[in-house]
Parts: sequence; structure tokens; C-alpha cells
Amino acid sequence: VIRDLVRRLERRRAIRRRRPTAYPDPHVKWIRRATRGEIHYSLDHLLDRAVMELPTGDPVLEIGSLCGLSTNLIAYLLRKHGRPNAFFTTDPWTFEEETGDSVPGSAIPIADYRDLIRRQFETNVRFWNADRLPHSFALPSDEFFVAWREGCEATDVFGRAARLGGPLAFCFVDGAHAAENVRRDFENVHAHLVRGGLVLFDDSDPYGRHPHIYGVVEDALGRGYELLADYPGHLIRKVDG
Ligand SMILES: C[S@@+](CC[C@H](N)C(=O)[O-])C[C@H]1O[C@@H](n2cnc3c(N)ncnc32)[C@H](O)[C@@H]1O
Repeated sequence: VIRDLVRRLERRRAIRRRRPTAYPDPHVKWIRRATRGEIHYSLDHLLDRAVMELPTGDPVLEIGSLCGLSTNLIAYLLRKHGRPNAFFTTDPWTFEEETGDSVPGSAIPIADYRDLIRRQFETNVRFWNADRLPHSFALPSDEFFVAWREGCEATDVFGRAARLGGPLAFCFVDGAHAAENVRRDFENVHAHLVRGGLVLFDDSDPYGRHPHIYGVVEDALGRGYELLADYPGHLIRKVDG
């Protein structure tokens, strides 16, 4: 217990020393001001690095979009760095914190809340990316990968047809946080990821709220992935396989 406490304190100190910094781009500031989100502002550096280091022109995938903050940032960075990769996103807009049929403390149906978030996503993404909309799907990631494996033609939430399937160049993992979900997301991504492909895990601080996500990162590092960055998320690259 004491050793664990000491490690936690050291880790916290190390994080403080790193001094989180905002990504120095005014456009990102404007996107962030307009879009409610659940990613740390320092993560923008890792999103930027992932886009800069995309190994191929294969598709990019985001698991977990909420109101579209990370979606808009990734889409912007793809434009900024002149990367032509198709961009797919998936989110069923159902929330781990749900406890019943209504929003806690109210009679508002939970279905209406889900619908509100999804409409915010659509509005935000259309506003910032009208000329290059991602292919977004309202699916849990497991179902998205079933469709991806089958190579289906599907209609996205913006009403556009898209052919699914094939290799992936980068995946941002920020969907359901339970250990089994994150592990399955990683395995599904791994199965499609090109050599040199990248995975960015949010919420993966070993001493944060979801230490099991760091466990998935550690396993990947033992299976032919290299670590590119470890704060405020973990960015890894597939070296073998
Ligand atoms: C932490 S939020 C994502 C935050 C977002 N990336 C941002 O930039 O603000 C997690 C999201 O995962 C979604 N989610 C829940 N279960 C999921 C699943 N099985 N597959 C994909 N997404 C899921 C939730 O609807 C929620 O929008």
C-alpha cells in the first residue's frame, strides 16, 4: 500500500512537472470554445502528432465522439496537414453513467438526452467540416467493427453512403471505458491497423480514473507496439505484425 502511494505521488509530481500546454493554433481555440468535450486540452498535441505521423492514406477511425470535439479536431488536423485519409467515427450516444429511463434528478427521458447529444454532434460537425464531413455512425464500436469486417456499404448519420472495411492508419480510442470494451476496441483496431499505424488511448493514466486502460497499453507494448507519448493519453505505434 505504501509503495503504491509513493508511486502515485511520484506520478502526480511528474505530471505537474510536465506543465500541460495548449496547442498553439487559434483555430483550435475557436473549435474548443464552441464544442463541449471530454478531452484534455493538452491532448491536441498528441492528435496533431498522430495526424503528422500517419503512415499511409488509409482511413482514420474515432471511437467515442460525444458532441464532436475530438471529431472536429481530428478533421481539422487532417485538413491542416494536407492528409487525404477518409475519416470514420462511431458512437451509439448511450452513456455509461445512465441509471434508468430518465436523466438523474429529473423526468427528462434518457432517450431525449441521447438525442440532444447526437444533434449537438451533427450540428457541430456540420458547422466546422461542411466541406469534408466524416463518415459517422451511431453504432457501438463492436457493431461498427462487424460492419467493417463485412465490408458493408452503409449510410452514415449525415445521410451519405460509405463503403466500410480495409486497413486503418490511426484510431483514437475514447468510447466505453470498461476494461473489456477497451480491450476489444484495441483487438479490433489491431486486426486492421497497418504496420506503422497509430493508436491513441484517452483516459489511460495509470493513476487516473481508469487504470485498466493503461493495462491495455502495457499489453500492446509487449506485443510489438512502441510508445510515442504518454501524456495526457498514450500514443503507440505498431512496429511488428
Ligand atoms: C468520453 S466520451 C468521448 C469524448 C469525445 N471524444 C470528446 O472529444 O469529447 C465517451 C463516448 O463514448 C460513447 N460510447 C459509449 N459506449 C460506446 C461504445 N460501445 N462504442 C463507441 N462509443 C461508445 C459515449 O456515447 C460517449 O459519447
